[in-house]
Amino acid sequence: MPLTHTRDLFAKALKGKYALGAFNVNNMELLQAIAEACEEKKAPLILQISKGARKYANPVYLKKLIEAAVSLTTIPIAVHLDHGDSYELCKECIDEGFTSVMIDGSHLPFEENIELSKKVVDYAHQHDSVVEGELGQLVGAQHDEGEDTGGYSKSGVYTHPDEAVKFVQATGVDSLAIAIGNSHGAYKFKGEQHLDLERLKAIKKALMDNGLGDYPLVLHGASSVPKHLVKIINDNGGNLGEDTAGVPESDIEVARRVGCAKVNIDTDLRLAFTGGIRKAFQSDPKVFDPRKYLDPAREAVKELVRHKVENVLCCAGHAFD
Ligand code: G3H
Ligand code: 13P
Ligand code: ZN
Repeated sequence: MPLTHTRDLFAKALKGKYALGAFNVNNMELLQAIAEACEEKKAPLILQISKGARKYANPVYLKKLIEAAVSLTTIPIAVHLDHGDSYELCKECIDEGFTSVMIDGSHLPFEENIELSKKVVDYAHQHDSVVEGELGQLVGAQHDEGEDTGGYSKSGVYTHPDEAVKFVQATGVDSLAIAIGNSHGAYKFKGEQHLDLERLKAIKKALMDNGLGDYPLVLHGASSVPKHLVKIINDNGGNLGEDTAGVPESDIEVARRVGCAKVNIDTDLRLAFTGGIRKAFQSDPKVFDPRKYLDPAREAVKELVRHKVENVLCCAGHAFD
């Protein structure tokens, strides 16, 4: 089975009122866990690859691993560039056959973000790919190089509904990542915090009122940093800090119902994977066969993805709609 186009997955997700899980892939075990869990749950899937993942694993390895996942499953799978930071990187991925790319110009002034995003859209649309733009700035680390080079925004810059309309109209982006209190990483907030769901509704309505229809919005930084995963890590020699907190899953569920058609999850996968490895090391300090600790790590990610697609994104059972 070939890749499925991101465009088709979005159309079905909006119609079915579920969200697509966009899960980050960096290695074989993560990919196997995600693909197998989605296959089991009959969930459509977006695999996303960051610039850092390409640097870590090599684009050719990632491409071949994804080809393997596609051939070993029956579910629709799309491949997306996460946080593309230049026209050149987006073009490279489009040329490699990615069904969608993100151009993240969210740190640029509005007009420059428009100019860069439009340039990517023009190329993508001539080459059968689609584009996710971003407007507003997430709380915390901004893009794929994190705090080191990506910049850091303490309070974030929330997306304005009128600007969202102007941005989509001016660029032609096919989906839009928005900032409504969402945040990347494991240290999103201190204590419980919520998304600005009223703002989300206002953005969705503004797009609809301006003739853009049931427009697909994207929620980055959507990991919930589950307490039980943090505990597994800390109980087995880790030290994540007590103030780790994420976006409540109940907020993600509302966001899905309002029209966030793509929900990005990476940190929760990392937590599950790390917890699995730490637990294996702790229970047998003599272990040195990587299969002995990577297998439980893979199983922990699989369990997490099953939960997300079934209970949070509600895309389970929609693979063949
Ligand atoms: O939002 C960013 C993703 O979690 C990718 O992170 O750049 O460390 O691969 P990365
Ligand atoms: P998390 O860090 O919340 O998993 O967000 C991932 C993400 O937005 C990838 O683009
Ligand atoms: Zn992101």
